[in-house]
Amino acid sequence: MAEREVDPLPEVEPLPDEDREGDEPVLGRHERYRGEFPIEVKGLKNSFGEQIIHGGLDLAVRRGEILGVVGGSGTGKSVLMRSIIGLQLPDEGQIDVFGRSITTGDPDDVVGVRNRWGVLFQGGALFSTLTVGENVEVPLKKFYPELSDELTHEIARYKIKLSGLPEEAVSKYPSELSGGMRKRAGLARALALDPELLFLDEPTAGLDPIGAAAFDVLTRELKQTLGLTVFLITHDLDTLHEICDRVAVLADRKVIAVDTVPNLMKIDHPWIQEYFNGPRGRAALTAQALDELRKHMDMPIAANAVKALDKSSGKKA
Ligand SMILES: Nc1ncnc2c1ncn2[C@@H]1O[C@H](COP(=O)(O)OP(=O)(O)OP(=O)(O)O)[C@@H](O)[C@H]1O
Ligand SMILES: [Mg+2]
Repeated sequence: MAEREVDPLPEVEPLPDEDREGDEPVLGRHERYRGEFPIEVKGLKNSFGEQIIHGGLDLAVRRGEILGVVGGSGTGKSVLMRSIIGLQLPDEGQIDVFGRSITTGDPDDVVGVRNRWGVLFQGGALFSTLTVGENVEVPLKKFYPELSDELTHEIARYKIKLSGLPEEAVSKYPSELSGGMRKRAGLARALALDPELLFLDEPTAGLDPIGAAAFDVLTRELKQTLGLTVFLITHDLDTLHEICDRVAVLADRKVIAVDTVPNLMKIDHPWIQEYFNGPRGRAALTAQALDELRKHMDMPIAANAVKALDKSSGKKA
């Protein structure tokens, strides 16, 4: 069996269709998923009592993409994520992750499926009585109890650095960290098992714009260097424009569209129009255009455009 290595996933050919039909064999610990859609949701229905959250929801996430998930507050983004990772049993529907059913799957598949994803929950969900290092060690100890303590500490330290935290953060408690650092600590824990799939629920909520932009850059770099597929719930328009390959829009209890941001902006749906073409949507678009122009400052036309835009928004180039 090949050792897991940094593998430029998009270059890998998906398995032929006949090999993907029905239940796929459980992946070995060191094998990567090679199918086209690591997440497939069909006909999902979720409700709490009388309140129907999702009905007939379909979604397929492509391997190697950052899929943004947007929708008004309470439309069921977090519930959708919880359903995909098996924390919320749906009323109806089929959810396959890495080709295995999450709703009817064999609990023994745990090492074939659940060790292949990492989750950053909305709000962080770190254990407050454990240090950052110990938090990152929790999933390592659960799935790889055979590792020595020394190696477990070493892996945890590496993941904490990979998430952009300073070395000292290892021995700090979550209460001793800033909001942005807590998000990074949550990310380090989500990366503990070298996941192929990363779930991020509002990772930049509550961060200042510079902190949020830095987190976006980190997410994109991790996707590129580790070949991750990312399911990213966000309200942050800058994040959607900057790093998402496609965006799924939740409204009317379903995913009403999945497309690139420019294509979504053309869709005539009241929520989509208000969100992407409203004042905040336009500001995010201008900010992205400015970033693009800044890359070409050696061209006078770009330099002049940046100066003019900066002047109008009261910023310095
Ligand atoms: N465990 C639960 N029991 C009852 N109702 C719930 C539960 N979890 C979520 N809900 C309800 O389901 C709906 C969707 O919640 P969810 O947390 O998925 O929204 P969201 O789209 O993530 O919103 P936000 O953008 O504010 O995070 C809400 O009306 C919420 O009150
Ligand atoms: Mg939520």
